Amino acid sequence: MRLMPLTAAFLLALAAASPVVVFNKPTKVASDASSPLLLSIHKPQAQGQGQSQGHFAPVVALEESGDDHKKRPPRVNVTAWFESYHRSDDIRQYFLQLADDYRDLVTFVPQLARTYEGREVYAVKIGAKGCESRDKPQVWIQALQHAREWATGTTAQYLAHHFTSRYGKSSNVTKILRAAEIIIIPNMNPDGYEFSWDADRLWRKNRRNNGNGIYGVDLNRNWPDHWGNGGSSTDPDAEDYGGPHANSEPEVRGLVNFFKSQRRVLGAVDLHTHAQLILRPQGYTNASSPHEAEMKHVGDTMAQVIKGVHEMEYTSARLHEVSPLLTSGSTVDWFYSDQAASANGGQRAYSYAFELRPSPEGSEGGKIGFILPIEEVVPLGEEIAAAMEYFVEYIVKNPLKEK
Ligand SMILES: *[C@@H]1O[C@H](CO)[C@@H](O)[C@H](O)[C@H]1NC(C)=O
Ligand SMILES: *[C@@H]1O[C@H](CO)[C@@H](O)[C@H](O)[C@H]1NC(C)=O
Ligand SMILES: *[C@@H]1O[C@H](CO)[C@@H](O)[C@H](O)[C@H]1NC(C)=O
Ligand SMILES: [Zn+2]
Repeated sequence: MRLMPLTAAFLLALAAASPVVVFNKPTKVASDASSPLLLSIHKPQAQGQGQSQGHFAPVVALEESGDDHKKRPPRVNVTAWFESYHRSDDIRQYFLQLADDYRDLVTFVPQLARTYEGREVYAVKIGAKGCESRDKPQVWIQALQHAREWATGTTAQYLAHHFTSRYGKSSNVTKILRAAEIIIIPNMNPDGYEFSWDADRLWRKNRRNNGNGIYGVDLNRNWPDHWGNGGSSTDPDAEDYGGPHANSEPEVRGLVNFFKSQRRVLGAVDLHTHAQLILRPQGYTNASSPHEAEMKHVGDTMAQVIKGVHEMEYTSARLHEVSPLLTSGSTVDWFYSDQAASANGGQRAYSYAFELRPSPEGSEGGKIGFILPIEEVVPLGEEIAAAMEYFVEYIVKNPLKEK
């Protein structure tokens, strides 16, 4: 199915007709048919109130007549959710359920990309739906670009939990979700992520078949800004293989298109582990960006906010300052790029790559740092949630100005 940009008016129209009808959009009917959400979606239909959603009826009918309705997974246990890491299917279920539990706040946006192995890249948008406007600012947060960085996934899940559960309770969160919309892409490399569960815990790339038994493109070297300008490999076997050309990978292409279809992204964060860094442009050159002062201020302040929560020390830096090599084709440069800005009504976004816990010292030579002990997942979520509260609030008041 072609991705339809969800304008505010469209969303409000949907909300009026049926607040959950959006869930009927995925084309992957078979797997949606196994969602318990559909039980509640079906009720109005069964009571004859579904006339206005006629164009969704065939999907609903298929779902209702599906053979596997007996195999519906149980609702995920939200109370126990952060006591373990979860597979892609369960994470997707968590977000579908969140959208069902918080219909006034959360919209599930399906089918942003389909991976080589047929998995879906999706997003959720979190914001008070009663406060939509054409220029409502947006903030973008993405996770699991690198498969083995599981704690980025839990952090995205935690952020979604944090903002939804505190709406109407915390005055800061309520204000934020009225003023802005938070777009979360919780699992942007599901093929790689599943491979890191099944075959190689330290897998980083996606699962493109490069031939000769070699797999994977480093998605964070595939973004179409200064692609291949150094700091990425042309060797398909390398961990930082940039792909055959810029934007060649479905996961990247889908997100580039989705980003471009948004109204006004003021800031974007790409979550990684691990090193306790808050990195800003630029990666492809040692030169500072024109907005170096603004982005340094926000990065430095986020580091202070994080320290205030659990005393963790994050370092705020330009990407190239901490990397002895250049890094080109990475997300942190693309979010800030001319291409992203021009699609975004000329508005340039504050752009960061976070390297979450643990610090390099705590990582025993690097590898073990990708395996964050489960009891650190919530404290990590809490410190990043505090940083994101500050981030959204600040950049809504101080969007980057054209230079
Ligand atoms: C959910 O998890 C909590 C915490 O582990 C547990 O106490 C509770 O029994 C679980 N609920 C269900 C329905 O399994
Ligand atoms: C709310 O936000 C302000 C900054 O705008 C911050 O100083 C304060 O600590 C926040 N309150 C809570 C409860 O997080
Ligand atoms: C980057 O620029 C700084 C000065 O701004 C310089 O000290 C540093 O050596 C440069 N790094 C590289 C790798 O060129
Ligand atoms: Zn990474």
